[in-house]
Amino acid sequence: MRAWRVHQLGEPTDVLRLEDAPSPAPGPGEVRIEVAAASLNFPDVLLCRGEYQVKPALPFTPGSEVAGIVAQVGEGVEELAPGDRVLAIPKFGDGGLAEETLAAAATTYPIPDSMDWPAAAALHITYQTGHLALHHRAGLRSGETLLVHAGAGGVGSAAIQLGVAAGARVLATAGGPDKVQTCRDLGADVAIDYRAEDFVAGVKEATDGRGADVIYDPVGGDVFDRSRKCVAFEGRILVIGFTGGRFADAPTNHVLIKNYSVVGVHWGLYNLMQPQRIRATHEELVRLHRDGKIAPLVSELLSLDDAAKALERLASRGTVGKIVCTTGP
Ligand SMILES: NC(=O)c1ccc[n+]([C@@H]2O[C@H](COP(=O)([O-])OP(=O)(O)OC[C@H]3O[C@@H](n4cnc5c(N)ncnc54)[C@H](OP(=O)(O)O)[C@@H]3O)[C@@H](O)[C@H]2O)c1
Repeated sequence: MRAWRVHQLGEPTDVLRLEDAPSPAPGPGEVRIEVAAASLNFPDVLLCRGEYQVKPALPFTPGSEVAGIVAQVGEGVEELAPGDRVLAIPKFGDGGLAEETLAAAATTYPIPDSMDWPAAAALHITYQTGHLALHHRAGLRSGETLLVHAGAGGVGSAAIQLGVAAGARVLATAGGPDKVQTCRDLGADVAIDYRAEDFVAGVKEATDGRGADVIYDPVGGDVFDRSRKCVAFEGRILVIGFTGGRFADAPTNHVLIKNYSVVGVHWGLYNLMQPQRIRATHEELVRLHRDGKIAPLVSELLSLDDAAKALERLASRGTVGKIVCTTGP
């Protein structure tokens, strides 16, 4: 089988090599999956650069979510069987940018026959993060205003759809007119090009000066700093990521004076701390997808061979929604 591998750290197109590799054998509690589709995530870029918070040993295969068919089960796996259609988080370091991958049965989830492979490959990390952040961490209520930053990106596009599905009024920011239009197409009521105009004024205007009740921030840095200026009384700012490249500081006097909360979200940790919450959220996401309330924005469907170039574009802000790589002919 073929797998993308990183032997030394650097930019994705410089360090990723598509190589022949032996078919992996599942250990106890693991399954081997024939990958039908793998979706790309910003952390795959960080892994290649050696900038992700956890660093796999070299050489490694990136790729943090896949959909495919269970080919073999390891010792002690009873809930899954060969032939099952699943989506999964692959074993760290033996990732999904490959024709076959390994995953723990605990992070492998059944999908219905009606769900196609690209949708399944794009339904996990971004939607899980969004659902958990908006509902469990921020307690988003129907009728509240949700502001989603980088709304045309992977996590942003999922958060817009989940906000609309929750009955919130959704505002979004994005860089450039095309991405702003993508946010509108996803269901945002108001979309602001934050590279061309000050989003604080736009949010205040759209909320009669109140500000947004929940702010979903995958960018950080200046975007976080400016978000503090347009968060509503008793609002919640969700810290999702740092694509802007700087960790912002939250001055506690400002948090007190304006009565808002800064809420951290590390979805991956729930796999360790509360795995049952992830499984319940998966079932809810499958239901929302079946009912037509959410549908991953798969903007590009590529071959596995194109994964390295696609990761480079993702790193440089050149993509919208999700890019999915398929292994078929
Ligand atoms: N907390 C969690 O549990 C969790 C889970 C999943 C992902 N994340 C994080 O969420 C973030 C977004 O991931 P993603 O997969 O959605 O990425 P993505 O699809 O590439 O979207 C990120 C967007 O960030 C914006 N951005 C602003 N400044 C940027 C810069 N200097 N470089 C690149 N992009 C910049 C871009 O949108 P504009 O051009 O519109 O500004 C870009 O499209 C990442 O930091 C990731 O690690 C966190």
